[in-house]
Amino acid sequence: MVKTILRATGTYVPTPEISNAELVASFNAYSERFNAQNADAIAAGTLEAKPLSSADFIESASGIKNRHVIEKDGILDIDEMVPRITPRSWDETSVQAEFAMKAITPALEKAGYTGADFDGIIVASSAQQRNFPALASELQGLIGCEGWSFDMTMACASALYGLNIAHTMIQSGQARRILVVSPEIMTSINVHSRREVHFIFGDAASAIIVEAGDATSSGWEILGTHTKNKFSNALRSDFGFINRSEYVADPDYEVGLDQDGHRVFKDVVSFAPVVAAELMSRLDLAPADIHRTWLHQANIRMVDMIAKRILGRDRTPENAPAILHEYGNTSSSSVVMNFEMHSEDMAPGETGVMCAFGAGYGVGAAAVRKM
Ligand code: COA
Repeated sequence: MVKTILRATGTYVPTPEISNAELVASFNAYSERFNAQNADAIAAGTLEAKPLSSADFIESASGIKNRHVIEKDGILDIDEMVPRITPRSWDETSVQAEFAMKAITPALEKAGYTGADFDGIIVASSAQQRNFPALASELQGLIGCEGWSFDMTMACASALYGLNIAHTMIQSGQARRILVVSPEIMTSINVHSRREVHFIFGDAASAIIVEAGDATSSGWEILGTHTKNKFSNALRSDFGFINRSEYVADPDYEVGLDQDGHRVFKDVVSFAPVVAAELMSRLDLAPADIHRTWLHQANIRMVDMIAKRILGRDRTPENAPAILHEYGNTSSSSVVMNFEMHSEDMAPGETGVMCAFGAGYGVGAAAVRKM
């Protein structure tokens, strides 16, 4: 029987960094200016004052200390609060495709492939910078892949949803080799003037090469994948094509990301381990069979709780590594970064489970065994 092999990954993290202290200084300057400019309305009770943020709160509530971003100055400038990205002409490579290439290139180099070696490309990320043509089509052109391509989104679980599709296509014989790419420029989606979310995200890209193989292949055998959703409105981003017509009468409407963090925390901590357990049960894997779990990085307390439920034992940095203190939440690329950074030490025959969760809610899980 054909095996699905995770042959190689590639990741990219931009160089500019923003610490909690820098982000909070910018957020508080923005809020204090807003409160001063609107002092009368706030005093009259017709407008709510913007609350201040704190670096200590961010670190203790989430575990995040730092994040890497595509561009720093615009995010910290209280007149902008978004990364500064120069518009590109019709003929130039798009910003997100260029970002994606920085993860694709090392993945191709590791495996020794060119674009011509692939049947298809799936871009699986929280958002794509345009509706069409598909970003995946642009990447096909850039790497010279002659197959099919499409874009898909399932928020922070996107990469594992993409991996699930790739695995299924390989098992069904529809494809022999697929590239799953997650270029996540989350600081462009985030609302840095909203206290509930301003500290959460960093930017990063990942790429996974998935292929048909056999017992002699090198890499990681994908034992199985599983995805599941439960609808929730507690975390959403309202950027979309309807915005132009829907909000035209309200120029102050802040279209963008918002969440009820408390609800997301509670709901996801109980839902994600169930999806991982369903996959493990299907594959006849007990918690004791799992050497390591690589989890999506959103909040260190969530990592602790979800790891314990998947592994049936307390989390340690070895059995469920964390990277969010340095990178923040890099959406769906985070689980791939975590895997890439913390898998080389595992021995052939050892098994691990990746699990990613996010808005939707969508949860993706994949069980892999080192070959
Ligand atoms: N700075 C300082 N204080 C803050 C603050 C900030 N940035 N944000 C909230 N607070 C205050 C609140 O006002 C509240 O004060 P009170 O107790 O006096 O009312 C207190 O801190 C606790 O706020 P709360 O919102 O309950 O914090 P929390 O413990 O739930 O942590 C999150 C907030 C966002 C870190 C946490 O809920 C979380 O990570 N949720 C999951 C979100 C997530 O992962 N989203 C992406 C999924 S892929």
